[in-house]
Amino acid sequence: MSDNNVKRPMEAHMRPPKKARTAPAIRVCINEYQEDGSDSCGPGGGLEIRAALEKGIEERGIEINFRAIECLGLCKRGPSIMIDPGSSYFMYAQPEDVPEILDMVEKFVADVKALDS
Ligand code: FES
Repeated sequence: MSDNNVKRPMEAHMRPPKKARTAPAIRVCINEYQEDGSDSCGPGGGLEIRAALEKGIEERGIEINFRAIECLGLCKRGPSIMIDPGSSYFMYAQPEDVPEILDMVEKFVADVKALDS
């Protein structure tokens, strides 16, 4: 059984917000296939997380750039999500974690904005 098939609690590795020249960004891995057959985030929940995050960001009006990408280099600890500035990570995320992730992202964006004002 691959690591992505084992349910583990989500891990949030939040770093302090930083001033940045660019707007806050969130990147969600939705990779569906690794050539060597090893773990990838998409089948482990990444695709559902992407949809729920996009919907939640829009509903809450969170000002953050959203991108779905093919790999964050955290394949064994996926589904994985990264937010910038500062490279904070969510690992072992599942769709049911999305409300908690959105809460943290919302606070992160507000903290970054406060640094810029
Ligand atoms: S496949 Fe998602 S981090 Fe690599």
